[in-house]
Amino acid sequence: MHILITGGAGFIGSHVVRHLVTTYPQYTITNLDKLTYAGNLENLRDVEDSRNYRFVRRDITDSAAMLELFEKEGFDGVIHLAAESHVDRSIASPTEFVMTNVLGTVNLLNAARAVWKEDFSGKLFYHVSTDEVYGALGNKDGAFTETTSYDPHSPYSASKASSDHFVRAYHDTYGMPTVISNCSNNYGPYQFPEKLIPLFINNIRNNKPLPVYGKGENVRDWLWVVDHAQAIDVIYHNGEPGETYNIGGRNEWKNIDLIRLLCRIMDRKLWRVEGKSEKLISYVTDRAGHDFRYAIDSSKLQKELGWLPSLRFEEGLEKTVDWYLENQEWLDHVTSGEYQRYYEEMYGE
Ligand code: NAD
Ligand code: TYD
Repeated sequence: MHILITGGAGFIGSHVVRHLVTTYPQYTITNLDKLTYAGNLENLRDVEDSRNYRFVRRDITDSAAMLELFEKEGFDGVIHLAAESHVDRSIASPTEFVMTNVLGTVNLLNAARAVWKEDFSGKLFYHVSTDEVYGALGNKDGAFTETTSYDPHSPYSASKASSDHFVRAYHDTYGMPTVISNCSNNYGPYQFPEKLIPLFINNIRNNKPLPVYGKGENVRDWLWVVDHAQAIDVIYHNGEPGETYNIGGRNEWKNIDLIRLLCRIMDRKLWRVEGKSEKLISYVTDRAGHDFRYAIDSSKLQKELGWLPSLRFEEGLEKTVDWYLENQEWLDHVTSGEYQRYYEEMYGE
């Protein structure tokens, strides 16, 4: 079994690569990544020498390069995570999101189709998506299910929604075995410190302000990233082609409550007087089009494929803080830009 993972040098992708490389030594795992600002090969130091792992630096927007790679390697399966993933960046420069998230996905689908032809037996194209395609929930109960209508608001979620539609279209039109999962917000080790949790851990560490958008009342549903990687494994091996699976831990937090909890954990870990980190909170102008609440219903995945999240959030957040404090070199390399030299050091190109 030869699986192509795209975006494997990113946050979630690196956990998926690590999980598959170590769980399935009999598989060959190829990690394809462009190494944009979000790609960091230091995320994979512990598995980079594994016999069943290889890395290729490619851009999924390059259709000829995708076709050439598929013709050479013939992959049995694809787990597609490569994407532009940060909402704030999508507001500042949407076109990049169309290119990578929409065109890049279509290029991969075309390359898979050209090489797999009509013989799809044993093949699978797995597209990793987000709950943000469903839009926003109000201040009430209720959660997104697999049949919730798409209603994206940000350029990021619009581009992911579009890519989901293309994946479904290739299933319905060409009979390609595809599967899609839509997951809630992930947290854990190796997340780029532009996203809420690692950004705030880093700012607290450096006594810098914590920019809370609006009143901090928006709600996100947080999942431990290793549980996401585990869910992807379960869906890849047991999911039904043509189906969609929502992934989430029913773990909703108002941003400000999460931030206060994080501040308390950081005070304790850094031996600071309780309340010191909270003083760094600074309310700033709200994000444009800021989705109010996300919550995901993953009962289909739980009932049909038996997946369950493994960690309580309080425990996961504590583990996350410990990881960033124990891996300050990783964080410093990211903030200084040093991490971008690792590819040349490793591969000499
Ligand atoms: P990330 O930004 O950390 O990583 C994205 C990776 O894709 C990087 O390694 C980057 O170099 C690579 N990449 C970007 N453009 C590329 C291109 N043109 N060609 C090849 N590689 C390219 O993202 P993440 O948070 O790990 O998210 C991974 C996937 O999971 C995305 O598809 C995202 O939409 C989805 N997702 C993320 C979350 C979350 O909370 N982070 C939740 C649900 C779904
Ligand atoms: P983020 O981690 O960017 O994920 P997403 O936008 O995909 O949900 O943001 C999580 C929440 O935190 C979101 O409601 C926006 C908010 N937020 C802030 O209040 N301040 C910040 O500096 C960031 C990055 C996010």
